[in-house]
Amino acid sequence: MTTLTSISEEILDLKRQRHAIILAHHYQDAEIQDLADAVGDSLELARKAQEFSGDVIAFCGVWFMAETAKVLNPQRIVVVPDREASCSLVESCPAEQVRAYRRLHPDHVIVSYINTSVEVKAESDILCTSRNAVQVVNSIPADRTILFLPDINLGNYVKRETGRENMKIWQGSCIVHATFAARRLVKARVERPNALVAAHPECPQDVLAMADFIGSTTAIIKWCTSSDADEFIVMTESGVLRSLQKLAPEKHYYFIPNENCNCSECPYMKRNTLEKLRDALLNLQPRVELDPEIMRRAAVPIERMLQIK
Ligand code: 13P
Ligand code: SF4
Repeated sequence: MTTLTSISEEILDLKRQRHAIILAHHYQDAEIQDLADAVGDSLELARKAQEFSGDVIAFCGVWFMAETAKVLNPQRIVVVPDREASCSLVESCPAEQVRAYRRLHPDHVIVSYINTSVEVKAESDILCTSRNAVQVVNSIPADRTILFLPDINLGNYVKRETGRENMKIWQGSCIVHATFAARRLVKARVERPNALVAAHPECPQDVLAMADFIGSTTAIIKWCTSSDADEFIVMTESGVLRSLQKLAPEKHYYFIPNENCNCSECPYMKRNTLEKLRDALLNLQPRVELDPEIMRRAAVPIERMLQIK
């Protein structure tokens, strides 16, 4: 029988043979995070992918994140453990609809969340992540109309934070964060009166209104672990628990199950497993292969975002 240790050893062996780096998003299972060279949010992983000098990137996250890594590293092989590791936001925003919008409104600035396909990135003026979305929108001249896509909750949050009136927002949502219910958060706060609430901006506005802190996954981890408080209700994917516990094991973290599945897990992220990671390093498949012209066009808005500190 193959044990966890022997699969991990196989992965580390293959990693050496392939001159590979393993990048893992915070939403991956703990055993994948523990094998990774870097664990981070989407912005950190995009930057890490650029710093690396080997031949292969094994990207343990969802497909659009691996596409971003490929655009930034066109000469490297990028593999993802499971080809079906997608994202409901990507699925809500087909490139042909964005092209149709562009034809109707050629003067609008298209700000795309990193949770989009590479084809949508290629149609975009600038990219953003949950970490830098406010700064990105603030960098656009006030007289320009913006289309923010595809996340409605992040878009509305950014609109409130920046006070931008001339900002249209796509109607996509995250199946995990958008289904966290304020009703359940109210109940949790009654049960844990000393707990502070940290929330990802993909959550609905009534959830965000109750948050003591709003930020990307890494920002949430930093805020909880450096705060003086001991108890936190964490309104994001429960994979972040690994880093929370590593950095501040003495504190208590509570996750509120969402309305759809009674858990706080992303079903797309959780498609990746150690076995599939081993097979991806062995076979160098599923591999991200992109049209060179699409990559060239998608690199422009990504680089514009990376220039914003
Ligand atoms: P981060 O930018 O915080 O990593 O979020 C990515 C994501 O998919 C959130 O659901
Ligand atoms: Fe997409 Fe939501 Fe999963 Fe993040 S948590 S990858 S936004 S479906």
